[in-house]
Amino acid sequence: MNIKNQINSNMDEYQQKVLVVDDQPETIYVITLTLKNLNVKILSASNGKEAIEKAETEQPDMIILDIQMPIMDGFEACEILKKNEKTKNIPIMFLTSKFTEIKSKVKGLDMGADDYLLKPFEPLELASRVKVMLRLRDAQMRLEQKNRHYMEMLGFISHELKNPLTSILGCAETLKNGIVGALGPDQQKFIEIMDRNAAYIQSMIERYLNLSKLEKGEIVPDYRQFEFIEEALLPVLHNLKIIIEKNKKTLIEDKEALKSKFIINSDLELIKVILNNLFSNAIKYSDDRGIIKYFVNYSDNNEYLILKVENSSIGLTDEETKNVFNKFGRLKNAITSKQKGTGLGLYNSREILKILKGSICCESEKGEYVRFVVEIPVNRK
Ligand SMILES: Nc1ncnc2c1ncn2[C@@H]1O[C@H](COP(=O)(O)OP(=O)(O)OP(=O)(O)O)[C@@H](O)[C@H]1O
Ligand SMILES: [Mg+2]
Repeated sequence: MNIKNQINSNMDEYQQKVLVVDDQPETIYVITLTLKNLNVKILSASNGKEAIEKAETEQPDMIILDIQMPIMDGFEACEILKKNEKTKNIPIMFLTSKFTEIKSKVKGLDMGADDYLLKPFEPLELASRVKVMLRLRDAQMRLEQKNRHYMEMLGFISHELKNPLTSILGCAETLKNGIVGALGPDQQKFIEIMDRNAAYIQSMIERYLNLSKLEKGEIVPDYRQFEFIEEALLPVLHNLKIIIEKNKKTLIEDKEALKSKFIINSDLELIKVILNNLFSNAIKYSDDRGIIKYFVNYSDNNEYLILKVENSSIGLTDEETKNVFNKFGRLKNAITSKQKGTGLGLYNSREILKILKGSICCESEKGEYVRFVVEIPVNRK
Protein backbone atom coordinates (compact mmCIF):
# COMPACT_ATOMS: atom_id res chain seq x y z
CA MET A 1 0.00 0.00 0.00
CA ASN A 2 1.19 3.50 -0.80
CA ILE A 3 2.39 5.42 2.26
CA LYS A 4 0.19 8.40 1.33
CA ASN A 5 -2.88 6.16 1.40
CA GLN A 6 -1.86 4.75 4.72
CA ILE A 7 -1.76 8.12 6.46
CA ASN A 8 -4.45 10.19 4.82
CA SER A 9 -7.25 9.84 7.39
CA ASN A 10 -8.29 13.28 8.59
CA MET A 11 -9.14 13.84 12.24
CA ASP A 12 -10.76 17.20 11.46
CA GLU A 13 -13.71 15.48 9.75
CA TYR A 14 -14.42 13.39 12.80
CA GLN A 15 -17.51 14.05 14.96
CA GLN A 16 -16.98 13.09 18.60
CA LYS A 17 -19.39 10.71 20.28
CA VAL A 18 -20.69 10.81 23.86
CA LEU A 19 -22.33 7.74 25.38
CA VAL A 20 -24.92 8.70 28.01
CA VAL A 21 -25.84 5.85 30.36
CA ASP A 22 -28.90 6.30 32.59
CA ASP A 23 -32.02 4.26 33.30
CA GLN A 24 -34.14 7.44 33.29
CA PRO A 25 -34.98 8.44 29.70
CA GLU A 26 -35.69 12.00 30.93
CA THR A 27 -32.11 12.40 32.15
CA ILE A 28 -30.78 11.24 28.77
CA TYR A 29 -33.09 13.73 27.10
CA VAL A 30 -31.94 16.62 29.30
CA ILE A 31 -28.26 15.77 28.75
CA THR A 32 -28.82 15.56 24.99
CA LEU A 33 -30.35 19.06 25.06
CA THR A 34 -27.55 20.36 27.27
CA LEU A 35 -24.84 19.13 24.91
CA LYS A 36 -26.62 20.26 21.75
CA ASN A 37 -24.27 23.15 21.07
CA LEU A 38 -21.15 20.99 21.31
CA ASN A 39 -21.80 19.34 17.95
CA VAL A 40 -21.33 15.83 19.32
CA LYS A 41 -23.19 12.64 18.49
CA ILE A 42 -25.15 11.34 21.48
CA LEU A 43 -25.47 7.59 22.02
CA SER A 44 -27.49 6.16 24.87
CA ALA A 45 -27.74 3.06 27.07
CA SER A 46 -30.06 2.31 29.96
CA ASN A 47 -27.80 0.10 32.12
CA GLY A 48 -24.18 -0.91 32.63
CA LYS A 49 -24.36 -4.04 30.49
CA GLU A 50 -25.74 -2.21 27.50
CA ALA A 51 -23.15 0.53 28.04
CA ILE A 52 -20.28 -1.96 27.80
CA GLU A 53 -21.65 -3.41 24.55
CA LYS A 54 -22.12 0.06 23.02
CA ALA A 55 -18.69 1.24 24.20
CA GLU A 56 -17.03 -1.75 22.53
CA THR A 57 -18.80 -1.40 19.20
CA GLU A 58 -19.18 2.39 18.94
CA GLN A 59 -15.94 3.49 20.61
CA PRO A 60 -17.37 6.74 22.04
CA ASP A 61 -15.01 9.57 23.03
CA MET A 62 -16.40 9.72 26.55
CA ILE A 63 -19.05 8.08 28.73
CA ILE A 64 -21.41 9.85 31.13
CA LEU A 65 -22.32 7.12 33.57
CA ASP A 66 -25.09 6.97 36.16
CA ILE A 67 -24.41 4.78 39.19
CA GLN A 68 -27.72 3.35 40.35
CA MET A 69 -29.17 1.37 37.45
CA PRO A 70 -30.90 -2.00 37.08
CA ILE A 71 -29.11 -5.10 35.65
CA MET A 72 -25.62 -3.65 36.13
CA ASP A 73 -24.74 -0.53 38.12
CA GLY A 74 -22.24 2.16 37.11
CA PHE A 75 -19.45 1.03 39.45
CA GLU A 76 -19.43 -2.49 38.02
CA ALA A 77 -19.64 -1.20 34.45
CA CYS A 78 -16.75 1.21 35.10
CA GLU A 79 -14.62 -1.62 36.49
CA ILE A 80 -15.25 -3.80 33.43
CA LEU A 81 -14.73 -0.93 30.97
CA LYS A 82 -11.38 -0.02 32.54
CA LYS A 83 -10.16 -3.62 32.36
CA ASN A 84 -11.15 -4.13 28.74
CA GLU A 85 -8.36 -3.39 26.20
CA LYS A 86 -10.91 -1.96 23.74
CA THR A 87 -12.53 0.47 26.19
CA LYS A 88 -9.98 1.20 28.91
CA ASN A 89 -8.88 4.55 27.47
CA ILE A 90 -12.38 6.02 27.09
CA PRO A 91 -12.83 8.78 29.72
CA ILE A 92 -15.71 8.25 32.13
CA MET A 93 -17.70 10.88 34.03
CA PHE A 94 -19.91 9.64 36.85
CA LEU A 95 -23.15 11.56 37.11
CA THR A 96 -25.08 10.80 40.25
CA SER A 97 -26.55 12.07 43.43
CA LYS A 98 -24.86 9.25 45.29
CA PHE A 99 -21.66 11.23 45.10
CA THR A 100 -22.78 13.41 47.98
CA GLU A 101 -20.90 10.85 50.02
CA ILE A 102 -17.17 11.38 49.88
CA LYS A 103 -16.60 7.58 49.97
CA SER A 104 -18.53 7.12 46.73
CA LYS A 105 -16.61 9.92 45.04
CA VAL A 106 -13.32 8.31 45.96
CA LYS A 107 -14.56 4.85 44.95
CA GLY A 108 -15.50 6.11 41.49
CA LEU A 109 -12.22 7.91 40.92
CA ASP A 110 -10.24 4.94 42.27
CA MET A 111 -11.95 2.73 39.72
CA GLY A 112 -10.48 4.87 36.98
CA ALA A 113 -13.31 7.36 36.41
CA ASP A 114 -11.95 10.69 35.22
CA ASP A 115 -14.56 13.06 36.66
CA TYR A 116 -17.90 13.16 38.46
CA LEU A 117 -20.83 15.53 38.65
CA LEU A 118 -23.72 15.66 41.09
CA LYS A 119 -27.36 15.27 40.11
CA PRO A 120 -29.26 17.54 39.73
CA PHE A 121 -26.57 19.17 37.63
CA GLU A 122 -26.18 22.71 36.40
CA PRO A 123 -26.45 22.44 32.56
CA LEU A 124 -23.72 25.02 31.96
CA GLU A 125 -21.34 23.20 34.25
CA LEU A 126 -22.04 19.82 32.63
CA ALA A 127 -21.51 21.26 29.14
CA SER A 128 -18.24 22.91 30.07
CA ARG A 129 -16.85 19.82 31.86
CA VAL A 130 -17.81 17.62 28.90
CA LYS A 131 -16.11 20.14 26.61
CA VAL A 132 -12.86 19.92 28.58
CA MET A 133 -12.94 16.12 28.60
CA LEU A 134 -13.57 15.96 24.88
CA ARG A 135 -10.76 18.43 24.21
CA LEU A 136 -8.35 16.20 26.15
CA ARG A 137 -9.65 13.14 24.35
CA ASP A 138 -9.12 14.86 21.01
CA ALA A 139 -5.52 15.72 21.94
CA GLN A 140 -4.93 12.12 23.04
CA MET A 141 -6.38 10.71 19.79
CA ARG A 142 -4.25 13.06 17.68
CA LEU A 143 -1.14 12.01 19.56
CA GLU A 144 -2.00 8.33 19.10
CA GLN A 145 -2.66 8.92 15.42
CA LYS A 146 0.69 10.70 15.02
CA ASN A 147 2.41 7.79 16.72
CA ARG A 148 0.63 5.36 14.40
CA HIS A 149 1.69 7.36 11.34
CA TYR A 150 5.24 7.51 12.58
CA MET A 151 5.28 3.73 13.11
CA GLU A 152 3.75 3.14 9.69
CA MET A 153 6.34 5.38 8.09
CA LEU A 154 9.13 3.63 9.98
CA GLY A 155 7.81 0.24 8.88
CA PHE A 156 7.40 1.40 5.29
CA ILE A 157 10.88 2.88 4.98
CA SER A 158 12.52 -0.09 6.68
CA HIS A 159 10.64 -2.47 4.41
CA GLU A 160 11.70 -0.56 1.28
CA LEU A 161 15.35 -0.54 2.36
CA LYS A 162 15.44 -4.26 3.09
CA ASN A 163 15.63 -5.67 -0.45
CA PRO A 164 18.30 -3.34 -1.90
CA LEU A 165 20.39 -3.89 1.21
CA THR A 166 20.15 -7.68 0.91
CA SER A 167 21.37 -7.25 -2.67
CA ILE A 168 24.34 -5.08 -1.55
CA LEU A 169 25.28 -7.70 1.05
CA GLY A 170 25.01 -10.46 -1.55
CA CYS A 171 27.30 -8.58 -3.96
CA ALA A 172 29.85 -7.91 -1.21
CA GLU A 173 29.81 -11.61 -0.35
CA THR A 174 30.37 -12.57 -4.00
CA LEU A 175 33.32 -10.17 -4.29
CA LYS A 176 34.76 -11.30 -0.94
CA ASN A 177 34.67 -14.96 -1.96
CA GLY A 178 36.66 -14.19 -5.12
CA ILE A 179 33.91 -15.57 -7.35
CA VAL A 180 34.42 -12.76 -9.89
CA GLY A 181 38.19 -12.62 -9.55
CA ALA A 182 40.79 -12.58 -6.79
CA LEU A 183 40.99 -9.46 -4.61
CA GLY A 184 44.13 -7.76 -3.37
CA PRO A 185 44.53 -7.11 0.40
CA ASP A 186 43.39 -3.46 0.11
CA GLN A 187 40.32 -4.41 -1.93
CA GLN A 188 39.54 -7.14 0.60
CA LYS A 189 39.79 -4.59 3.43
CA PHE A 190 37.38 -2.16 1.77
CA ILE A 191 34.88 -4.89 0.95
CA GLU A 192 34.93 -5.96 4.57
CA ILE A 193 34.19 -2.41 5.75
CA MET A 194 31.30 -2.23 3.26
CA ASP A 195 30.04 -5.60 4.40
CA ARG A 196 30.22 -4.74 8.11
CA ASN A 197 28.37 -1.46 7.72
CA ALA A 198 25.69 -2.93 5.48
CA ALA A 199 25.17 -5.74 8.02
CA TYR A 200 24.76 -3.12 10.75
CA ILE A 201 22.13 -1.24 8.73
CA GLN A 202 20.39 -4.56 8.10
CA SER A 203 20.16 -5.34 11.82
CA MET A 204 18.92 -1.79 12.50
CA ILE A 205 16.21 -2.20 9.86
CA GLU A 206 15.15 -5.50 11.43
CA ARG A 207 14.71 -3.75 14.79
CA TYR A 208 12.69 -0.88 13.29
CA LEU A 209 10.52 -3.34 11.37
CA ASN A 210 9.91 -5.36 14.52
CA LEU A 211 9.05 -2.21 16.47
CA SER A 212 6.64 -1.05 13.80
CA LYS A 213 4.94 -4.47 13.69
CA LEU A 214 4.76 -4.64 17.49
CA GLU A 215 3.19 -1.19 17.80
CA LYS A 216 0.66 -1.96 15.11
CA GLY A 217 -0.20 -5.29 16.78
CA GLU A 218 0.91 -7.15 13.67
CA ILE A 219 3.04 -9.79 15.35
CA VAL A 220 1.05 -13.00 15.41
CA PRO A 221 3.07 -15.95 16.71
CA ASP A 222 3.52 -18.96 14.46
CA TYR A 223 3.49 -21.73 17.07
CA ARG A 224 5.15 -25.06 16.44
CA GLN A 225 7.08 -27.62 18.42
CA PHE A 226 10.88 -27.42 18.25
CA GLU A 227 14.00 -28.31 20.18
CA PHE A 228 15.38 -25.14 21.76
CA ILE A 229 19.14 -25.91 21.76
CA GLU A 230 19.51 -27.40 18.27
CA GLU A 231 17.02 -25.22 16.44
CA ALA A 232 17.21 -21.88 18.23
CA LEU A 233 20.25 -21.40 20.44
CA LEU A 234 23.03 -23.07 18.43
CA PRO A 235 22.13 -21.46 15.06
CA VAL A 236 22.12 -17.99 16.71
CA LEU A 237 25.48 -18.66 18.40
CA HIS A 238 26.87 -20.01 15.13
CA ASN A 239 26.05 -16.72 13.38
CA LEU A 240 27.71 -14.73 16.15
CA LYS A 241 30.83 -16.96 16.36
CA ILE A 242 33.00 -14.72 14.17
CA ILE A 243 32.04 -11.59 16.13
CA ILE A 244 32.76 -13.35 19.42
CA GLU A 245 36.23 -14.31 18.16
CA LYS A 246 36.95 -10.91 16.61
CA ASN A 247 36.06 -9.18 19.86
CA LYS A 248 38.21 -11.64 21.83
CA LYS A 249 35.31 -12.74 24.03
CA THR A 250 35.07 -16.12 25.72
CA LEU A 251 31.81 -18.01 25.49
CA ILE A 252 31.30 -20.49 28.33
CA GLU A 253 28.60 -22.90 27.24
CA ASP A 254 26.18 -24.82 29.45
CA LYS A 255 27.61 -28.33 28.98
CA GLU A 256 24.78 -30.04 30.85
CA ALA A 257 22.15 -28.31 28.74
CA LEU A 258 23.97 -29.21 25.52
CA LYS A 259 23.53 -32.87 26.42
CA SER A 260 19.79 -32.44 26.96
CA LYS A 261 16.80 -31.79 24.76
CA PHE A 262 14.35 -28.98 25.47
CA ILE A 263 11.22 -29.42 23.41
CA ILE A 264 9.00 -26.35 23.47
CA ASN A 265 5.97 -25.09 21.57
CA SER A 266 6.61 -21.49 20.62
CA ASP A 267 7.56 -19.25 17.69
CA LEU A 268 11.07 -20.23 16.59
CA GLU A 269 11.79 -17.07 14.57
CA LEU A 270 10.64 -14.74 17.35
CA ILE A 271 12.73 -16.66 19.90
CA LYS A 272 15.75 -16.25 17.61
CA VAL A 273 15.20 -12.46 17.50
CA ILE A 274 15.37 -12.40 21.32
CA LEU A 275 18.42 -14.67 21.51
CA ASN A 276 20.24 -12.69 18.88
CA ASN A 277 19.77 -9.46 20.80
CA LEU A 278 20.74 -10.94 24.17
CA PHE A 279 23.95 -12.48 22.88
CA SER A 280 24.80 -9.45 20.73
CA ASN A 281 24.40 -7.31 23.85
CA ALA A 282 26.57 -9.66 25.90
CA ILE A 283 29.30 -9.32 23.24
CA LYS A 284 28.92 -5.52 22.98
CA TYR A 285 28.63 -4.68 26.66
CA SER A 286 30.86 -7.24 28.41
CA ASP A 287 33.93 -5.71 30.07
CA ASP A 288 37.64 -6.45 29.45
CA ARG A 289 37.32 -9.87 31.07
CA GLY A 290 35.03 -10.66 28.13
CA ILE A 291 33.23 -13.62 29.70
CA ILE A 292 29.86 -14.62 28.27
CA LYS A 293 27.89 -17.50 29.79
CA TYR A 294 24.50 -19.02 29.31
CA PHE A 295 22.38 -21.54 31.20
CA VAL A 296 19.29 -23.39 30.04
CA ASN A 297 16.88 -25.32 32.22
CA TYR A 298 13.25 -25.92 32.95
CA SER A 299 11.48 -24.09 35.77
CA ASP A 300 10.71 -26.12 38.91
CA ASN A 301 7.16 -26.80 37.75
CA ASN A 302 8.40 -27.65 34.20
CA GLU A 303 6.03 -25.04 32.76
CA TYR A 304 8.75 -22.71 31.51
CA LEU A 305 12.08 -22.97 29.78
CA ILE A 306 14.51 -20.69 31.60
CA LEU A 307 17.40 -19.13 29.72
CA LYS A 308 20.02 -17.04 31.47
CA VAL A 309 22.50 -14.99 29.45
CA GLU A 310 25.26 -13.42 31.47
CA ASN A 311 28.32 -11.28 30.77
CA SER A 312 31.13 -9.98 32.94
CA SER A 313 30.56 -6.31 33.66
CA ILE A 314 31.18 -3.49 36.10
CA GLY A 315 27.45 -3.94 36.70
CA LEU A 316 24.27 -1.91 36.48
CA THR A 317 22.39 -0.05 39.23
CA ASP A 318 18.92 -1.29 40.21
CA GLU A 319 17.41 1.60 38.28
CA GLU A 320 19.47 0.78 35.19
CA THR A 321 18.36 -2.87 35.25
CA LYS A 322 14.82 -1.52 34.74
CA ASN A 323 15.74 1.20 32.25
CA VAL A 324 17.44 -1.23 29.84
CA PHE A 325 13.95 -2.19 28.62
CA ASN A 326 12.88 1.37 27.73
CA LYS A 327 12.02 2.10 24.12
CA PHE A 328 15.13 3.70 22.50
CA GLY A 329 16.74 3.41 25.94
CA ARG A 330 20.54 3.36 25.90
CA LEU A 331 22.56 3.57 29.10
CA LYS A 332 25.77 5.42 29.89
CA ASN A 333 27.82 2.27 29.18
CA ALA A 334 26.59 2.18 25.56
CA ILE A 335 27.33 5.84 24.98
CA THR A 336 30.77 5.89 26.61
CA SER A 337 31.87 2.66 24.92
CA LYS A 338 30.63 4.11 21.57
CA GLN A 339 28.85 0.86 20.80
CA LYS A 340 26.41 1.16 17.93
CA GLY A 341 22.74 0.43 18.59
CA THR A 342 19.20 1.72 18.38
CA GLY A 343 18.16 1.03 21.97
CA LEU A 344 15.32 -1.13 20.70
CA GLY A 345 16.68 -4.67 21.11
CA LEU A 346 15.55 -5.22 24.69
CA TYR A 347 12.30 -3.27 24.33
CA ASN A 348 11.35 -5.42 21.33
CA SER A 349 12.46 -8.60 23.14
CA ARG A 350 10.29 -7.82 26.14
CA GLU A 351 7.26 -6.99 23.97
CA ILE A 352 7.72 -10.19 21.93
CA LEU A 353 7.96 -12.20 25.14
CA LYS A 354 4.71 -10.64 26.35
CA ILE A 355 3.05 -11.88 23.16
CA LEU A 356 4.50 -15.36 23.76
CA LYS A 357 3.25 -15.17 27.41
CA GLY A 358 6.81 -15.28 28.69
CA SER A 359 8.92 -12.71 30.53
CA ILE A 360 12.38 -11.20 30.79
CA CYS A 361 14.22 -9.46 33.61
CA CYS A 362 17.68 -8.09 34.21
CA GLU A 363 19.85 -8.81 37.26
CA SER A 364 23.25 -7.45 38.10
CA GLU A 365 25.97 -7.70 40.71
CA LYS A 366 28.30 -4.73 41.01
CA GLY A 367 31.77 -5.48 39.58
CA GLU A 368 30.66 -8.98 38.56
CA TYR A 369 27.99 -9.46 35.93
CA VAL A 370 24.86 -8.39 34.08
CA ARG A 371 22.41 -11.24 33.57
CA PHE A 372 19.17 -11.52 31.62
CA VAL A 373 16.68 -14.16 32.71
CA VAL A 374 14.11 -15.21 30.12
CA GLU A 375 11.09 -17.42 30.76
CA ILE A 376 9.39 -19.02 27.77
CA PRO A 377 6.26 -21.17 28.26
CA VAL A 378 6.99 -24.77 27.27
CA ASN A 379 3.48 -25.12 25.89
CA ARG A 380 1.41 -22.59 24.04
CA LYS A 381 -0.70 -20.60 26.53
N1 LIG B 1 24.45 -7.34 28.59
C1 LIG B 1 24.46 -6.04 28.91
N2 LIG B 1 25.38 -5.55 29.78
C2 LIG B 1 25.37 -4.24 30.11
N3 LIG B 1 24.54 -3.32 29.60
C3 LIG B 1 23.61 -3.76 28.71
C4 LIG B 1 23.51 -5.13 28.34
N4 LIG B 1 22.52 -5.27 27.45
C5 LIG B 1 22.00 -4.04 27.29
N5 LIG B 1 22.64 -3.13 28.03
C6 LIG B 1 22.33 -1.69 28.10
O1 LIG B 1 20.96 -1.54 27.78
C7 LIG B 1 20.79 -0.69 26.63
C8 LIG B 1 19.60 -1.18 25.82
O2 LIG B 1 19.91 -2.40 25.16
P1 LIG B 1 19.23 -2.74 23.79
O3 LIG B 1 19.62 -4.09 23.37
O4 LIG B 1 17.78 -2.46 23.93
O5 LIG B 1 19.77 -1.62 22.79
P2 LIG B 1 21.18 -1.50 22.05
O6 LIG B 1 21.99 -2.73 22.22
O7 LIG B 1 21.77 -0.22 22.50
O8 LIG B 1 20.73 -1.31 20.55
P3 LIG B 1 20.07 -2.43 19.59
O9 LIG B 1 18.71 -1.88 19.29
O10 LIG B 1 20.95 -2.46 18.43
O11 LIG B 1 19.98 -3.71 20.33
C9 LIG B 1 22.13 -0.75 25.91
O12 LIG B 1 22.33 0.40 25.11
C10 LIG B 1 23.09 -0.85 27.07
O13 LIG B 1 23.33 0.43 27.61
MG1 LIG C 1 20.97 -4.64 21.80
